[in-house]
Amino acid sequence: MRRSRITTVLCGLAALAVFSARSDAQRAASASSTPTGLAPTPPMGWNSWNKFGCRIDEQLIRETADAMVSSGMRDAGYKYVNIDDCWEAPARDANGDLATEPTRFPGGMKALADYVHSKGLKIGIYSSAGTGTCQRRPASLDHEVADAKKFAEWGIDYLKYDNCNNEKRPALERYKAMGDALKATGRPIVYSLCEWGENKPWEWGRTVGGQLWRTTGDISDRWTSMVRLLDKQVGLEKYSGPNAWNDPDMLEVGNGRMTNTEYITHFSLWALLNAPLIAGNDLRSMSDSTKMILMNREVIAVDQDWGGKQGSRVRDDGELQVWMKPMASGDRAVILLNRSSTPFHLRVTMKELGLSSGQHRARDVWAHTDVTVGPEVSALLEPHGVKMYIIKR
Ligand code: GLA
Repeated sequence: MRRSRITTVLCGLAALAVFSARSDAQRAASASSTPTGLAPTPPMGWNSWNKFGCRIDEQLIRETADAMVSSGMRDAGYKYVNIDDCWEAPARDANGDLATEPTRFPGGMKALADYVHSKGLKIGIYSSAGTGTCQRRPASLDHEVADAKKFAEWGIDYLKYDNCNNEKRPALERYKAMGDALKATGRPIVYSLCEWGENKPWEWGRTVGGQLWRTTGDISDRWTSMVRLLDKQVGLEKYSGPNAWNDPDMLEVGNGRMTNTEYITHFSLWALLNAPLIAGNDLRSMSDSTKMILMNREVIAVDQDWGGKQGSRVRDDGELQVWMKPMASGDRAVILLNRSSTPFHLRVTMKELGLSSGQHRARDVWAHTDVTVGPEVSALLEPHGVKMYIIKR
């Protein structure tokens, strides 16, 4: 009797162990089974706007494609070369089609797309769901079918679709019209909604065919701008997933108005948020520290890993915060963040991170060292700095 009770208890424990082992394995399997679609992981690439604004031409785009290859960015996962506003001629052509600005893009968009493709890369373009772009060039409202057709003809792989001059017409309707038009071309074109988060695009972005949507207004190359956008991501984690990414705007890494420490913080947080990693600097003249940040493969791997949920803030002490993202393996990517301008010591327990309280192996993804942590992890953080770990389950 006694023995059978013990056996029952042991069997029960074994079953529980098998059950939890299985659910972890299943969770890892379902989270890591390769999703299909146009953006199964957050898109990675480059965009002209943050650094160059309207000072763009075909030579810049070609040289950027070259630099994406020669710097190692392509091999690190960056593949889209995206042309933002100001590629457009001031007026539509005689057929009513969008045309390329002839003095800065004399070879035309098709030849440029062919060049970018010849480098093993993809090319993106920009328009607005309005009567004009933000820089008052012709845009696509009520021209969706013709413009999408043109983009497909040119060999475009990615459209960033802005929100300027929208005549206050309903966003969902305007963004759906372009989503339908892109689909009708038959060409796979990533559809990036740049609606600035005004009408909660995270709630309907998927339904209009979008793979990513801006959640905020524009970033600028300043610490205060970056953290302001970061705060707006809180609570949006449940809307993100394969082919449906929250976009807190493009990267400013390497543009010169934040410190290196701040750029490391920016890149770490964007990766933890499964943000699209769209570099916004001059790839032709990157410093070693910019390259070290943009091509940190351990951090990129966090961005590209879909563990079932975008990373989120798990502790908010004001200036000191902890952000955590479950990885597909069951490991946890963790960021200890110091937003203040003085150094601070921060501690977090394994329990707060949803891990067992004992010791765990961990990886410091900026120092590239293996460490042991638990029952807590603690670090002295530089002003505006982070420590980022992957803590093994
Ligand atoms: C808006 C967008 C920016 C950029 C500019 C171009 O402000 O949000 O990302 O595309 O327009 O004019």
